[in-house]
Formats: sequence, structure tokens, C-alpha cells
Amino acid sequence: MAATDLERFSNEEKRNLSLGGHVGFDSLPDQLVSKSVTQGFSFNILCVGETGIGKSTLMNTLFNTTFETEEASHYESVVRLRPRTYDLQESNVHLKLTIVDAVGFGDQINKDERPIVEYIDTQFENYLQEELKIRRSLFNYHDTRIHVCLYFITPTGHSLKSLDLVTMKKLDSKVNIIPIIAKADTISKSELHKFKIKVMSELVSNGVQIYQFPTDDEAVAEINSVMNAHLPFAVVGSTEEVKVGNKLVRARQYPWGVVQVENESHCDFVKLREMLIRVNMEDLREQTHTRHYELYRRCKLEEMGFKDTDPDSQPFSLQETYETKRKEFLGELQRKEEEMRQMFVNKVKETEAELKEKERELHEKFEHLKRIHQEEKWKVEEKRKELEEEMNAFNLRRVAVETLQSQSLQATSQQPLKKDKDRKN
Ligand code: GTP
Ligand code: MG
Repeated sequence: MAATDLERFSNEEKRNLSLGGHVGFDSLPDQLVSKSVTQGFSFNILCVGETGIGKSTLMNTLFNTTFETEEASHYESVVRLRPRTYDLQESNVHLKLTIVDAVGFGDQINKDERPIVEYIDTQFENYLQEELKIRRSLFNYHDTRIHVCLYFITPTGHSLKSLDLVTMKKLDSKVNIIPIIAKADTISKSELHKFKIKVMSELVSNGVQIYQFPTDDEAVAEINSVMNAHLPFAVVGSTEEVKVGNKLVRARQYPWGVVQVENESHCDFVKLREMLIRVNMEDLREQTHTRHYELYRRCKLEEMGFKDTDPDSQPFSLQETYETKRKEFLGELQRKEEEMRQMFVNKVKETEAELKEKERELHEKFEHLKRIHQEEKWKVEEKRKELEEEMNAFNLRRVAVETLQSQSLQATSQQPLKKDKDRKN
């Protein structure tokens, strides 16, 4: 369609018509609700905070149940993300809740936030891969994208740790962050007030974007804007029940008194539950999809070479991009193949030359040994000849000596006979 046609089409006046009777499309919202309820919902919470800060206790308190928990050791070699999924039901609404713990985070050695970022990206990538499939099944796909990151701040009363600032800064473009001051019963009221102000000013001065409860929907605008001013929520978690008056309430009991979890003058637990679960759960899911996932998807597709418009602002065809990328890929493949082939030929040549050199060396060695052997042989032959001559000479001498000996023996044996003869005469 030409640009002018488009303009005319969009400027075309829409006429309001009144209906003659009830048609029924006013039931659309009900249909939507009914469909969503049948499908069920998924909600994924990431808990980031140092070991033992009270993450599991708060989750148990928030959902009024006991999730399986196992204490993390302080000696984990790396930060490990541990997701656990539970099926919960309230009235006829099914919620597939995934709680992801960043195990080992904030311990002396494993301060690194990289595994957390990688985990969030992997969930986005899995969703993107499902979206890019020819046969998509997003309808029953288990969406594991993180909808909210509860960032547990240690109630030091001082300032945020640099690790907290660095981590939140790395995460803020990827996930909705709700900072909470954990174990708020361990800090005094006046100190807590100052600490909250300090935390917020540090977040602002470091450009950390935390999740803001939306104020564009009239129904919740007022409560959300009031709650935005209460951030970060200072919470207390407990699964213990204590009798206050004639009621059993969730609380932490101390020798000097009782901290009631759901008492708004004791802590902000109720505010957190209201904001996270009862008022803004859907907005958190929506923000994850429309803001954080959209950003990941855009960067990823751009990285892969896809664009919406070319440099002349003309719409970019997916087919063209694919063809260009395919050509680039095939070219690169050919180049790599040629490189490999050349490398192989060179290697063969090198090996051949090496083998030849080795053969030559061996031949030389053989010739050398042959020469030495020949010389040795000659020497032995000469020695043998010498010895033979010596033996001959020796034998001659021996024969001569023997002859002489026998002659002298003969002579000595004849002499007494002569003497006898002489005497007889
Ligand atoms: P790992 O999973 O091992 O990292 O610990 P975690 O962060 O899940 O902490 P967990 O909930 O296991 O709580 C650790 C300890 O802190 C337990 O003894 C809790 O009773 C205590 N605790 C939890 N929440 C609070 C709180 O709000 N105030 C106080 N004072 N203690 C708390
Ligand atoms: Mg835990």
C-alpha cells in the first residue's frame, strides 16, 4: 500500500452506530477472565540476598504455607540458582509459583552477580527460542521468566553495600526489582527511617532503576503512588504463631515483646503482600514481557542481524535478512573450510619433510655404524692374523724345544750304558 493510501486509511473517520438490541460482545471481558482462569497463571520470584537473611521465611510468610527449604551453607564455591516450582490454588485460581534462590550470594568468596544475570537471560532465551519455533506452543509453555526480584537488604543502618549497588545496577534492565529491608525488627524505628531514606538516595544517585508501582490505572493509582513513597519496604518474616489478645497471629516473640508480622505499625509486610500479590502481580508479569523481555529480544535479534528498517528507513524484509545472513554464513563456512584445507595440506607437507629428514638422519646413522662395524671387523681380522702368526711361531718354538728335549733325553740315557761297557772292559 502506498504511503498516501495508508495516511488516508488511518485518517478515515470512524462512525458510531447504535445497536438495535443486545448482541453479546459485552461478554468479551468475561470470556477473557474465564479463559485465563482455565489456563492458570505463572509467577516467578527471584530472591537475592545474603545467606540467612530470611528469604525462605519471608516466602513462607507471604504465601502462608511451608515451602520445602534447605539451609544454604556459607561455603558454596559459586553462586548457584535454585528454582523450585509449586502448584498453588486459591478459590478456583491455579498459580504455578516458582521461587528461585540465589544460593551462596553475598558470602565472602562468592560475591559474583554474574550467575544471576545469566539465569535471567537463559529464561528469556528459552522463551525466545519457543517463540521462534515454527510450531510454537506458547499456550502451554511453562514460562520461567523472572517476574520480580526481591532484593533483600541487610539492616545495617549504615548504607548499601557496594555489592548491592553493583548487583541491582546489573539487574535493573532485566527484571523488576523490589528492594526490601530484611529482618526489620533488628533495627530501631528512628534508625530504620533514616536507613530507608539513605537507601533510596543511594539507589537514585547510582542510577539504579527499581520497580515503580504503576500509577496509570485509576483504580490503583492512589494506593500505588502512596506505596512508591514507602519503598524500600522493611519486612519481618515469621512462621511462628503467637497469641495476642484472644487471637493467634504470626509474630516473632522476644523477651521484651512481640513483633507482629501483619501489624502495619510494626513493619511493612502487609504493604509488600498487597503490592506484590494483591495489586500488582499482573503488572509485574506484563512489565516482564513488554519491557524486559522485549529489550532482550530486540538486542538478541539485532545481534543476529535482523532489523525493522534499512538505512533508508525502508521496511526490512525478513526474507532478505535471512538470505544475506545465509550468504554471509555460507561464505564464512567456505572460508573456514579453505583455511582448514590449507592448514591440512601444510601440516601434511611439514610432516612429510620431517619424515624425510628423519629418514636421512637414520640413513646417515646406519652408514656411520656400518663403517664403524667394518673397521672393527678389520681390526679383529688383523688381530686374528697376528695371533695366528704368534701361535705358529709359538708352535715352531715348542716343536724345537721338544726335539731338543728328546735329543738330550736320548743322550743322557745312552751315557750309563757306555760307562758300564767301559767298566767291563
Ligand atoms: P538461606 O536460604 O540459608 O540463605 O537462608 P534464608 O535467607 O532463607 O534465611 P531463613 O529464612 O532460613 O532464615 C534464617 C534465620 O533468620 C532463621 O533463624 C529465621 O528464623 C531468621 N529470620 C527470618 N526472618 C527474620 C526476621 O524477619 N527477623 C529476624 N529477627 N529473624 C528472622
Ligand atoms: Mg533459604
